Amino acid sequence: MLHGRDLGLVKVDQGQLEQVIINLCVNARDAMVETGGRLTVVTSNLHVADPVQRATETMPAGDYVVIEVIDTGVGIPAENLQRIFEPFFSTKELGSGTGLGLSTVYGIVRQTGGFVFVDSAPGDGAKFSIYLPRYQEEGVQAATLDKGEKGSADLTGTGRILLVEDEDAVRVFSARALRNKGYEVVEAKSGEAALDLLRRPDRPEVDLIVTDVVMPQLDGPAMIRAVREFMPDVKVIFISGYAEERFRSSVGGGEVVEFLPKPFSLKQLAGKVKEVMER
Ligand SMILES: Nc1ncnc2c1ncn2[C@@H]1O[C@H](COP(=O)(O)OP(=O)(O)OP(=O)(O)O)[C@@H](O)[C@H]1O
Ligand SMILES: [Mg+2]
Repeated sequence: MLHGRDLGLVKVDQGQLEQVIINLCVNARDAMVETGGRLTVVTSNLHVADPVQRATETMPAGDYVVIEVIDTGVGIPAENLQRIFEPFFSTKELGSGTGLGLSTVYGIVRQTGGFVFVDSAPGDGAKFSIYLPRYQEEGVQAATLDKGEKGSADLTGTGRILLVEDEDAVRVFSARALRNKGYEVVEAKSGEAALDLLRRPDRPEVDLIVTDVVMPQLDGPAMIRAVREFMPDVKVIFISGYAEERFRSSVGGGEVVEFLPKPFSLKQLAGKVKEVMER
């Protein structure tokens, strides 16, 4: 981590920006699994004197705060560089990547009025650079906040949640966010681990299961089907990057299925949990 000095302010949704960083860092990790390597995150201020043209985009002149996520992994071939931000573009094995990471990053950064560029060559690692407009008190229009994301709604609550998510970073951040809101959180890294835990005679009382849909081996819906055989009334929230409708049919049954689309901010997660817990 190389923190810049006297960094400017930016106006962003904190949960969304965390999501951006997580996605980039997880990709960087994946690019270095075989070889090992170094992940570097650098922040800095940048004054751009003239508009910068990159591919089809023009970044206006102005003051920016820059976040760079740099890895020394396998790199990206030229023919893929154009496509990596497309939804569902993935070179990962079926089941291990949904191809939504970078499209999420792109969406969040653009919604924030920023830009994201990539420099990479095969065998030469990759550098993702995020340029966020520096926030100036005067003359800056309030960013368009998502309705329901705004303000100071009370997101605290109580109860025990079983959080099932194989992606360590997502699970750790989500668990921390929920604990901060007052919940007790039990974590499981896989569908099997969750099921084993709930089948134990000394199993913890669980009010709500929050589970990823796509996981290796036992996926979220299959795990929940098994759990409902002995805990028919447990509340469930599925987290998925897939379109809700397509996904609902795969769970089957007539139960009410709560659904939190990826990407979500930590605020949206806490909001959804509170809504379902209080029902
Ligand atoms: N740091 C990187 N180094 C090498 N290739 C990368 C890097 N980041 C992204 N890519 C390439 O871009 C593709 C798309 O990335 P993206 O994050 O959108 O999807 P994914 O990682 O495959 O799946 P998901 O993020 O949804 O789990 C990856 O499959 C990979 O080929
Ligand atoms: Mg990814």
